[in-house]
Amino acid sequence: MIGTRFWRCSAGAALAIMEVFAILTLASAQAPLKSAATTKPLPAVIEKDGHYALEVDGKPYLMLGVQANNSSAWPAYFDKVWPAAETLHANTVELPIYWEQIEATQGTFDFSVVDLMLKQAREHHLHLVLLWFGTWKNGSSHYTPEWIKLDQAKYPFLLNKEGKTVDSPSPFSKPWLEADKTAFRALMRHLKQADPERTVLMVQVENESGVWGGVRDYGPEAEKAFAEPVPERLVAGLGKQPGSWKQVFGDDADETFEAWFTATYIEQVAAAGKTEYPLPMYVNAALRDPFKPGHAPSYESGAPTDNNIDLWKIAAPSIGIVAPDIYMSDYAKYMKVIDLYRRKDNPLLIPETGNSADYARYVYAAIGQGAMGWAPFGLDLTRYSNQTEGPEAMENTALKPVARQYALLEPIARKLAAGNLESKVRGASEDPENHTQTLAFGRWNAVLQYGMPSFGNWMQPRGNSPPDGGAVILELGPDEFLIAGHHVRVDFKPTFAQDKKRLWLKVEEGSYDAAGNWKTARIWNGDQTDYGLNLKADENVLLKVRMTTF
Ligand code: DGJ
Repeated sequence: MIGTRFWRCSAGAALAIMEVFAILTLASAQAPLKSAATTKPLPAVIEKDGHYALEVDGKPYLMLGVQANNSSAWPAYFDKVWPAAETLHANTVELPIYWEQIEATQGTFDFSVVDLMLKQAREHHLHLVLLWFGTWKNGSSHYTPEWIKLDQAKYPFLLNKEGKTVDSPSPFSKPWLEADKTAFRALMRHLKQADPERTVLMVQVENESGVWGGVRDYGPEAEKAFAEPVPERLVAGLGKQPGSWKQVFGDDADETFEAWFTATYIEQVAAAGKTEYPLPMYVNAALRDPFKPGHAPSYESGAPTDNNIDLWKIAAPSIGIVAPDIYMSDYAKYMKVIDLYRRKDNPLLIPETGNSADYARYVYAAIGQGAMGWAPFGLDLTRYSNQTEGPEAMENTALKPVARQYALLEPIARKLAAGNLESKVRGASEDPENHTQTLAFGRWNAVLQYGMPSFGNWMQPRGNSPPDGGAVILELGPDEFLIAGHHVRVDFKPTFAQDKKRLWLKVEEGSYDAAGNWKTARIWNGDQTDYGLNLKADENVLLKVRMTTF
């Protein structure tokens, strides 16, 4: 179930009662709690009218994240991770947990690295999202311990149509599933004891599961299952007629079969972990092209690709979120992927995205589309890059594009998360094809223009070069907005009176103090407001505006 742990209503008194109820429920559902600190509520995904928020410490939380490189979650490398997160102004770090590290000997668990990770994250005032590199990592199984790798009869790889071994785990291996469940349970049990502070917010179960270089498993167990009718739960869930895999899914039979058994396996791992410690859990997807998807195996087969989200929802109810890893910097593709994964039954979370400068602006569109979190991949100081700029791109300079946006957004992250739950937030990233964008609020349309001078209306917007702008706007009241943006001009048009124009009542530049009170640094007027609000590329300002019309 997608963490509707308890219903949220907006009235303060009801909220307080629910909070007490939630804590009591939590306390009775778990083993006796050791200290007062453990009464902190569990992180949860909450929903209101089809809008979602990740709730942390009982309040909506926006994850401004960063994912470390794959081999950076080792004590000797932690000092390459935390400083990067701090430079970025990130509030959350996504770090892998390696099966080969925690269970090098079968049945013997070592959580010392996990404990150090928790301790150091807390010292750096960071939350964590943990990535379970278990049976699957990018369609292979390279993070399994040696005792798995060396016993391939017991822990078999997948066989392709020609009977050749593919570098991917078979989802039909019961011993493998049991071993993964045992390890993941042990991890979650440990976290429950070791993390009363709720430093860990969510857990990703496996990593980009599926298979590359084959469409489905043709091993003996798989063949037996393929000869069976499609499971009733799947046909009923999809509203299809019963039949064989070929009859029900035609040309997509092999891919759908692989997806079903991969998702079913992962469901069992997630469910086992949740019996110990029910943190929100998600899976991440290596994507297919959202416009020209082609057919597996041109993309990862069996994965939670957009065509199989419904299937994953049916097969894996313990997985609350099916999340896209977006490595497509093209604007239309990025927005299309968001559109495909942001659904009434699926909160939007972007747990990985590209780390080159052209991705930084997408944090605005992601938040504007209700994302609970967004995280560029590989921004630590290990100087290892998956982007074309090469290793030097990992130096501090590579952090700047994201750091600039996070520095602006981090102080208002909770407000944005709370606003998104109420559908009060809109946002956009610069589209190189279209230099004006409109964000519709009730009484006002916000108009964003890119590539405008500070002064005047004498030219049409021509776009920034390269396109790097974006903004998020939070509706504070019917005629009042909070604006955070980068390299964009923002203005408003009333929707309630076509013959009227906006008149600024007050445009305040300022910030929120620790208690959440607005502090005005100055009031913008004259040249700073006569042509709209020009938000620069090289300075971060937060604006609070109130308007009327004339
Ligand atoms: C996606 C994977 O999920 C990550 O672990 C990492 O391998 C990146 N690709 C590299 O681009």
